[in-house]
Formats: sequence, C-alpha cells, structure tokens
Amino acid sequence: MVQEVTGVIARSKGAPVESVTVRVPAPGPGEAVVRIQACGVCHTDLHYREGAISDDFPFLLGHEAAGVVESVGQGVSEVSPGDFVVLNWRAVCGQCRACRRGEPWYCFDTGNAHQPMTLADGTPLSPALGIGAFVEKTLVAAGQCTKVDPAVKPEVAGLLGCGVMAGLGAALNTAAVRRGETVAVIGCGGVGDAAILGASFAGARTVVAVDVDDRKLQAARQLGATHAVNSTQVDPVDAIRELTDGFGADVVIEAVGRPDTYLQAFYARDLAGRLVLVGVPTPEMTLQVPLIDVFARGGSLKSSWYGDCLPARDFPMLVDLHLQGRLPLEKFVSEVIGLGDVEDGFARMRAGEVLRSVVVL
Ligand SMILES: NC(=O)c1ccc[n+]([C@@H]2O[C@H](COP(=O)([O-])OP(=O)(O)OC[C@H]3O[C@@H](n4cnc5c(N)ncnc54)[C@H](O)[C@@H]3O)[C@@H](O)[C@H]2O)c1
Ligand SMILES: [Zn+2]
Ligand SMILES: [Zn+2]
Repeated sequence: MVQEVTGVIARSKGAPVESVTVRVPAPGPGEAVVRIQACGVCHTDLHYREGAISDDFPFLLGHEAAGVVESVGQGVSEVSPGDFVVLNWRAVCGQCRACRRGEPWYCFDTGNAHQPMTLADGTPLSPALGIGAFVEKTLVAAGQCTKVDPAVKPEVAGLLGCGVMAGLGAALNTAAVRRGETVAVIGCGGVGDAAILGASFAGARTVVAVDVDDRKLQAARQLGATHAVNSTQVDPVDAIRELTDGFGADVVIEAVGRPDTYLQAFYARDLAGRLVLVGVPTPEMTLQVPLIDVFARGGSLKSSWYGDCLPARDFPMLVDLHLQGRLPLEKFVSEVIGLGDVEDGFARMRAGEVLRSVVVL
C-alpha cells in the first residue's frame, strides 16, 4: 500500500525548501520502509539545494537519520519491523572488485531502493545520497539500515549516518591516527570536529584545530583539540609547525574542501606525513602544486569517502562507545528543530552558529 507522508524537498536550484506530500510505496524485494525519528542538517543537503551535486530536481533532502523499521519487502533478512536503525549510504554489494578484494568500505556498487518515492502528482523524487530522510517515512534498500543499540538517542545516532562518521573515520580509518602522533584539522564544522574527536580518541598527543571562526574553535576544544588556530589572524602552516617542534604534524585532515586549505594541509605536514581530504570540493576547483614538493615531502595524500566506514562494523561499535560515556557524540547536536525548520537550519549552518541542527519528528 502506498502511504502519503510529509517531507521536505528542494524543487529547483537555490529555491527555499518546501514541505510537501510524499508518496512512499510499500517495500519491494530487498527494500524497507523506515519511520524517521531524527535527521541532521548536513552541508551536503545545502549543496543539493544549490544544484552543486546534480540537476536531478526535485530532491528529497536529509540523509543523517535514525528511525524504526516499519515494514520490509520480500527476501529481507538483515532487519525486521521494530528494529532501531541508523541509515547509511554504503549498502555494500559484496560482488564488485573492491568488495571481492576484501575492501568493502570502497564498494563501487552500493545499493538504494529500486522503487521511487514521488510527489502527489507522481513526479519521482531524487533522495539525497539515496536516502531522503527529512520525511516521516522513507523507502531505502534494506542494506542501508544498520541496527544499533536502541538505548541511544535518535538525534545522536542519526549523525553517525554521515558527517560525524565521515570525520571520525577520516581520523580512525583513513589516517589511522596512532597513539602519540600529532594531528591538525583544518575546518571545524561537524565533520572537522568529529575528526578532532577521532584523533583524540586514538591517543594523538597534539590535536591542532584550525578555523576562521572563533566560535568553532571553542567547540573544537570541547571535542579534544589541544590547541586552536584562527587562520584569519596567523599563518596556519607556521602555527602548526610551531606547535609540532618546528616539523609539521604527522597527520593533517582537511575538512573544508577548498584548494587553499588543501595546500595549507599539504605544507603543514611533517616529512612523510599523511594528508586526508574529507572536505568535498566543487567541480570547478583546481590545484596547482610543484611536483617536486609532492615528491620531496613524501608521505601519503588520501581522500576519505564517508570516513572509509563499514556501517555494519562501525555504527554499532561507535554507539556502544557513546553509551559507555567514552565518545561524547551528543556534543554535535547544537539544536533540535522541527521538520518545517530545515531552511532555518541552513541559515544557521551558513552563519556558523551550529555544528548540527537536528530535525526530530
Ligand atoms: N568525505 C565525506 O564523505 C563527507 C561527508 C560529509 C560531509 N563532507 C564535507 O565535509 C565538509 C565539511 O562539512 P561540515 O558539515 O563540517 O560543514 P560546516 O559548514 O559545518 O563546517 C565547515 C567549517 O569550515 C570552516 N571554514 C570555512 N572556510 C575555512 C577556511 N578557509 N579555513 C579554515 N576553516 C574554514 C567554517 O568556519 C566551518 O567551521 C563539506 O565540504 C562537506 O560537504 C564530506
Ligand atoms: Zn561492492
Ligand atoms: Zn551528510
């Protein structure tokens, strides 16, 4: 049976978001319908709205979500109605070349629901990151549902579905920060602060936070930064070197997604250091760097797609660490808002007032 629910869409490039009726089909084979309890406002939703990701309007926005499985389609065994789940955008296929060689966190053929959700007039919606969760109920592939301990608050759990996982994973999985290392993180929004928390959790000795906004630097200190650098006031490369005995950091994580901050990260590394790009650039951005510097500085230059996470491995583990009081994920929830307040959430994100606004239904 098709259900009619309320959801938030971006109808056209740059236009304010709208609350509309969304038609959600009954789950087909391999699919699940999830009743959404919470969904964070991520910068990527704003990128969709601005047309920076694709032109497949209208988008059903929202993708950092947790909720309860309502119904499942034929052949679904991984989740059942009533399960509390975090939605992920990496339902691994198990068949592609990455999966077959034992690196499923790179899966090149991740799955989404096959049937479209639509507007009342039948227009198909493009769900953000194959999820679409600023809506009372959504249709996803069953593999996009990861069961976690239901004792966690939905507004906290949902954040693991994207930005917080991306940042934690950039430090813990992609950079594989080791005990005693020095780390710098450029850009201290939800993603960068999660990288700071991850580096701190891994036992980094020095964690330098770099941002252009003092309010963000203050929040970064709450999440484990040992030093804070405002890059509008001092050269961040010099500052990071000074804080690391003149050498540069073992690991620098770029969480903005711009060529200038990428170059700062590149030169703020110690020799043989690791650079991780977790910020997402836009298609027109380019990078110019002397090739001799790439060679002479050594080390590694990596990108972190979704924190190189494996949802089934990482989400339950991170929720357990949180419930044990060892990972203060609640600090990312700056405010709780309603489904009608997504546009306000975008404005507050742009103004730098929040790490995450989270819609609670
Ligand atoms: N790799 C992934 O899988 C993944 C997942 C989610 C989000 N992201 C990306 O990560 C980036 C950050 O996302 P977010 O949600 O934290 O965004 P955000 O807007 O909350 O945070 C960005 C931060 O960067 C700071 N900043 C801006 N310009 C800067 C500069 N020149 N120098 C230093 N700091 C600067 C801002 O003050 C802000 O604190 C975005 O590009 C987003 O698309 C990547
Ligand atoms: Zn695969
Ligand atoms: Zn996101």
